[in-house]
Amino acid sequence: MCKFYIKGNNRLSGDVNISSAKNSVLPILASTILADGVSVINNAPNIEDVYVLCDVLRSLSAEVTIDKNNNIMIDSKKLSDKNIDNDLIGKMRAAFLVLGPLVARLGKARISLPGGCKIGARPIDLYLKGLKSLGATVKEECGYVEVTATRFVGGTVFLDYPSVGATELLMMAGAIADGTTYIENAAREPEIVDLAMFLKKMGARITGAGTSSIYIKGVKKLSGATYTPMFDRIEAGTMMIAAAMTKGKINIIGVKEEWMKPAIFKLREMGVKINCNGNQMFVDGDVDLRAIDITTMPHPGFPTDLQSQMLSLLCIAEGTSTVKETVFENRFVQVPELRRMGADIKIIDGKVASINGVQKLTGASVAAPDLRAGAGLILAGLGAQGDTEVDNIYFVDRGYVAFEEKLAALGADIERK
Ligand code: UD1
Repeated sequence: MCKFYIKGNNRLSGDVNISSAKNSVLPILASTILADGVSVINNAPNIEDVYVLCDVLRSLSAEVTIDKNNNIMIDSKKLSDKNIDNDLIGKMRAAFLVLGPLVARLGKARISLPGGCKIGARPIDLYLKGLKSLGATVKEECGYVEVTATRFVGGTVFLDYPSVGATELLMMAGAIADGTTYIENAAREPEIVDLAMFLKKMGARITGAGTSSIYIKGVKKLSGATYTPMFDRIEAGTMMIAAAMTKGKINIIGVKEEWMKPAIFKLREMGVKINCNGNQMFVDGDVDLRAIDITTMPHPGFPTDLQSQMLSLLCIAEGTSTVKETVFENRFVQVPELRRMGADIKIIDGKVASINGVQKLTGASVAAPDLRAGAGLILAGLGAQGDTEVDNIYFVDRGYVAFEEKLAALGADIERK
């Protein structure tokens, strides 16, 4: 089992390129099987979750090849669920998104209920309610869900919560439904816009992605498409926080300011200096950090996927900060580990963390409890006095491309052993 060994207290400096977004590439890969043809996803991130989803597609008889630049070619002409790998689907929540395209292509699908990070209950009621509104019959039994629809029929779906995954699944189903589908209270995340752009390249007729109301005029058939997905805004935010954590000065390349606003505003409120110029962001963390309050929310609110990393930073900001988590139930899992590093954090009712800033964290042996919490602990180690060992880094490998290599190139003393 690999661990990261970090010698803290090195200021980061230099340029870092941001990879393409895991949360964009996964739904896009799932949607490629809507087409009876070949799609190419350029410059996919070189991470575990992407390879797991490729294996899921292979188990559905899609031909998947990946070249040395991580361009993924998917030929789904011979789609079949005969050898479907439900163990893999059960491992990763995003793999559940193949459900919509599978039913659309084969008329029926029986797949395992989703797994993923243990950050909360993560039910799928909104997905299934939405599919029923599009004319599907849904049966749930013994850890599996079976969905039947000779063809989806356009309908109106009001999401009780703007779920990212449910919005994505319903966009895919609506794209080749008979008639028009309306998704109200849709998620507005940038990755929804990216998926809509890919589906449109396949021939789908979608308007309103990025707003709460999405309209989809169903078409008879979609064809394969070539697409380069958006940058990973969570990786970019993690790097911004890494600069602030180490009093460093770094230039983040390949981003879009508009989609980074929640992180930009909250870090500026803490005193961090950020200059945006075209597709680059210069972050100067050599400042006195101030305590702030954060509440996670669906986009355009502060993203839950950056909460753990910000929590680490707030541990060394002067004053008392609060972090309220409203998206997932179980997202303060790294707090006991941060306390081992000297953090002063109280959890109130499981939903709010109250953080009294300390001057410095100190290195310790800690274990990543999940993907983003693991990233938060690595950042804490970079800013801490002394040595930190981070165990369970396979969680972090699921979502960050060459994390330690990018950090080391910025001057961090971090090694994988
Ligand atoms: C996606 C992201 C994840 C991010 C999350 C919120 C991917 C692959 N993952 O996850 O990194 O943290 O958005 O930005 O893109 N819910 C229900 N019923 C449902 C569906 C969701 O109650 O049927 C709840 C969930 O339990 C959770 C909340 O809605 O509390 C948000 O979940 P959702 O937006 O669906 O997140 P994911 O798509 O799973």
